[in-house]
Amino acid sequence: MSELQELVDGVYRDLKSHIGEGKVADYIPELAKVDPKQFGIAVATLDGSFHIAGDADAPFSIQSISKVFTLTLALGMAGDTLWTRVGREPSGTAFNSIVQLEYEKGRPRNPFINAGAIAVADMILAGHQPREAIGEIVHFVRFVSGDDSIAIDHEVAKSETGTGYRNFALANFMRSFGRLNHPVEHVLGVYFHHCALAMSCRQLARAGLYLAAGGRNPVLDSRVVSRERARRINALMLMCGHYDASGDFAYRVGLPGKSGVGGGILAVAPGKASIAVWSPGLNEYGNSLVGTAALELLAQRTGWSVF
Ligand code: DON
Repeated sequence: MSELQELVDGVYRDLKSHIGEGKVADYIPELAKVDPKQFGIAVATLDGSFHIAGDADAPFSIQSISKVFTLTLALGMAGDTLWTRVGREPSGTAFNSIVQLEYEKGRPRNPFINAGAIAVADMILAGHQPREAIGEIVHFVRFVSGDDSIAIDHEVAKSETGTGYRNFALANFMRSFGRLNHPVEHVLGVYFHHCALAMSCRQLARAGLYLAAGGRNPVLDSRVVSRERARRINALMLMCGHYDASGDFAYRVGLPGKSGVGGGILAVAPGKASIAVWSPGLNEYGNSLVGTAALELLAQRTGWSVF
């Protein structure tokens, strides 16, 4: 067995008694049904090998982790003009907060808070019907992961569409400042659907490889983005990927990371590996409690912090 596999097994073993801690997201009714007693980890190294433990092949709702892929896609479509629509600063506020939007005239602080991802969804919609834009996103995620079986969980999308009052408030507020170019229902249709992508830790770790390998997926031997763009997306993940807990995540783990309320986290060890963890119980900031602990242990034991 490889040394890295032993480390991954060790992390799983040491956290096993904590699996189930934290609180499953219940503001999206479909996510409230998920059994909290699950945990998966997958480490994909640049040579294409996987080191996994626990429920690494169980699909879960990637939620906000999808914002990394929509940002990458939108940057490919719009280039750096994207930054005229969305900022690049940590918000210091919760993922679904509305307060800054008023002070800052409807321009979201960064592409990973809900408001920012809604602006990015509006950009991906340009010239498309919502169905086509959603198709583009699914196509892109299948491309970066090299896995055509990845799909949207339509029950989750429907569930959030029926209860996403905060996101409707955010989008309407932005629209009132002239910050959206498409009808709110269309923009949120795209947003809710990409949040509802279902992926396993193994699929997600593979999808994140381009960020660990300077913009190129080394397994598929295909370039996704330039080296410079991969570096910049990683910088944004480090500064903003965990909302108002981004500083704490950088302190504890020291890697670019993006969380989702489904309990998943994608973390990137540049030049080394792409790591996905999943455990549905969340901490008070909406980030996986045991997933964060797993990444903290893994980073300590591998020495993979970027600092
Ligand atoms: O918009 C929402 O509230 C969810 N679809 C995504 C939020 C999320 O994943 C925040 N991450 N920790």
